[in-house]
Parts: sequence; structure tokens; C-alpha cells
Amino acid sequence: MKILVTGGAGFIGGNFIYHELANHPEDQVICLDALTYAGNLETLAQAMENPRFRFVKGDIADRKAVFDLFEAEKPDIVVNFAAESHVDRSVTDPEVFLRTNVLGTQVLMDACRKFGIGRYHQVSTDEVYGDLPLDRPDLFFTEETPLHTSSPYSASKASADLVVLAYARTFRLPVSITRCSNNYGPYHFPEKLIPLMITRALKDQSLPVYGKGENVRDWLYVEDHCAAIDLVMRRGREGEVYNVGGHNERSNLQVVKTILKELGKPESLITFVTDRPGHDMRYAIDPAKIHRELGWLPRTPFEEGIRDTVKWYLDNRSWWEHILAGEYQAYYEKMYGGR
Ligand code: NAD
Ligand code: DAU
Repeated sequence: MKILVTGGAGFIGGNFIYHELANHPEDQVICLDALTYAGNLETLAQAMENPRFRFVKGDIADRKAVFDLFEAEKPDIVVNFAAESHVDRSVTDPEVFLRTNVLGTQVLMDACRKFGIGRYHQVSTDEVYGDLPLDRPDLFFTEETPLHTSSPYSASKASADLVVLAYARTFRLPVSITRCSNNYGPYHFPEKLIPLMITRALKDQSLPVYGKGENVRDWLYVEDHCAAIDLVMRRGREGEVYNVGGHNERSNLQVVKTILKELGKPESLITFVTDRPGHDMRYAIDPAKIHRELGWLPRTPFEEGIRDTVKWYLDNRSWWEHILAGEYQAYYEKMYGGR
């Protein structure tokens, strides 16, 4: 089979490409990625050496480029990871989020209509459900939880989900959607909580925790997410949404302290800074459906995953140091300078 992976030069898409190449030796993988600030060809360096892999630079919202690629390659499966993915950036500049996440998704759906597709899979997020209160640990997001978004990012992802489901119903496209909780692991861009804290702690820099650090996220090791997507896109029911999460809830402060312990760095590095506007309090996924229908379960306990992740950042300093040496420095100053 030929699998088109959009956004594969980013964090989860890159891990997914390695997952597919390793687990499906009969398949070919094509990556379409615009190489925005979050896309990094160094992530795909090993894949580039594989004759079953091809990289194409291009924008999912560029109709002509996408249609030309579909016409030339006729993919059997499309997995759409391409997105603007950082909530804080969506607060300062929402427009590109709507363009890429919504209109880009629509262009991909139109290409599927025109050229035909075996399966279109949309990689979505638990953030489409909004948040849960801290004092109700019994509540979880199920696939039936109403969409209730908070940020321009989550609004754009929910909109994209609705476009995908509308194309499925109106044009009978074979689609599926996964809505996953927070991922962590190798190749995670160092603007997100876990890699930001690891890379800054390694340089003995202050660690900016928003508000009181009590917001809760449900952390899933990226390889477990890749395995879930692979199962759903091959065996999941058409037109269905599957939640993916690990029952690994931690407050941000717990996560940061765990990282400091792993690195042998002092908690005095923690600095509480002004909260994120509209900051979601708690995310928690009920993954019963994907377990019941497809047998998926997360395999990596948080303690093991975070240890491996810290080790990966220690062993792969050049990967993140190249990023930090670039335009990201100006970004950090802009976002945190006045906080
Ligand atoms: P990322 O920001 O690390 O990577 C995004 C990739 O998409 C980059 O390679 C970037 O160059 C590419 N891209 C951006 N705009 C593009 C465009 N217009 N055309 C083509 N490529 C473009 O993101 P990530 O964390 O790997 O997330 C991947 C997907 O998974 C996103 O759709 C995100 O909403 C979703 N998701 C992420 C998480 C998480 O914890 N990171 C959890 C659930 C769902
Ligand atoms: O839940 C899935 C989502 O997880 C994905 O859809 C998003 O693409 C992904 O970026 C992630 O969103 P979050 O906003 O949860 O992730 P982030 O790493 O930005 O923040 C995690 C938590 O840490 C959140 O409560 C905000 C907090 N935080 C974040 C940063 C960057 C801090 O306290 N300090 C920081 O500097």
C-alpha cells in the first residue's frame, strides 16, 4: 500500500513514519510537509535513506500542489498530521491555524473525492472537547462528549473534524478520526511543555510554569499513539471517531518536578509565570472504545516514557540545539519576555 503522511516532518508525524516503515515492510510512505518552523528534515534523516520513503515539500492548503501529488502517486491511505499545533501561538496569531487546519483539511478531502481513496484518517485532539474540572476526577471525555472548544487552535481542529465527517456523509468518503491526549517522546519540538522543560533545565535556565501549575494533562508516549493510528486507519470502522489516551493524568507541576528529578536539577529552577489565556484545566480521555473494538492499550508507563524521553534529549543534543539556535530564540523572547 501507498500511505501519504502529511505533516510528517513534525513530532508525531515523524514518529509515525518510522513506525510504518518498521512495522509494514510491504508499504511505501510519502511525506508531504510544508516545513514550517515546526517541520524539521533532520527528524526524517534516517527515513530518507529508505527506498520505500519519499519526501515532498508542499502545503496542504495549496490545491494545485496537493492535486498534482495525488494524481502522480494515487495514495491508498492519507493520514493528516499537518497542522499548526501550538495553543500559545494560536492565541497570538489565529489566522494561520484556520488556514492550515481547516482549509488545508478541506483541500485534502477534495483531493480524496477527485482521485479516490481507501481511507482518509484525520489526526485530531482531545482539546476539541474543551476541559474538565479538577474536582470531578470521575469525568472523562468519551466520543459522545459535545465539542466545546477554548482556543483558536482547538476551534480549528474541531472545525476540521466536522469538515471530515461532513465529507464522509455527503460524499461517502471512507474516513476515520482519532482524538488523542498530550503526546511526549523523541523529536518533540522544544516549545511544548516537556521538551521545553528538559532543554531549559539542561542549561540551568528558569522553567516557566503557567499559573499555579495545577492544570492536568493525560500524557501518552508517542509510540503508543502511532500504534493506535495505525490500527484505526487499517481496521477501524469507517466514519468513526476513536479517543486515544493513556489514563496517565499528571499536573504540570508534577511533570516538571519529575523531569528535574530525572536530570538531578533543583526545583528552584521553577518559575511561576502569568497563566495562558483561556487555559484548559484538565484533559482526561476514556479510551474504552478503541480498546473494545481494536484491542489497543497504551504500553508505556509514564515513569518509563519520561525516563526514555529525557535520555533521548541527552543523547540527541544536536537535534534540539540546531532548533534553539534558529528563529525559535526570537519566539521565546516574544512569548516569555514580558511574563
Ligand atoms: P508539530 O507542530 O510538531 O508538526 C506539525 C507538522 O505539520 C510540521 O512538520 C509542519 O511543518 C507541518 N505543517 C504545518 N502546516 C503545514 C501545511 N500547511 N502543509 C503541510 N505541512 C504543514 O505537530 P505535532 O505535535 O506532531 O501534531 C501533529 C498532529 O497531531 C496535529 O494535527 C495535532 O493537532 C495533533 N495532535 C497533537 C498532539 C500532541 O500532543 N502534540 C496530541 C493530539 C493531537
Ligand atoms: O491535548 C492534546 C494537545 O496537547 C494537542 O492537541 C496540542 O497540539 C499539543 O500542543 C498539546 O497542547 P497543550 O496546550 O496541552 O500542550 P503544551 O505543551 O503547550 O502545554 C501543556 C501544559 O503545560 C498546559 O497546561 C500549559 C502548560 N505550560 C506550557 C508551556 C509551553 C506551562 O505551564 N508552561 C509552558 O511554558
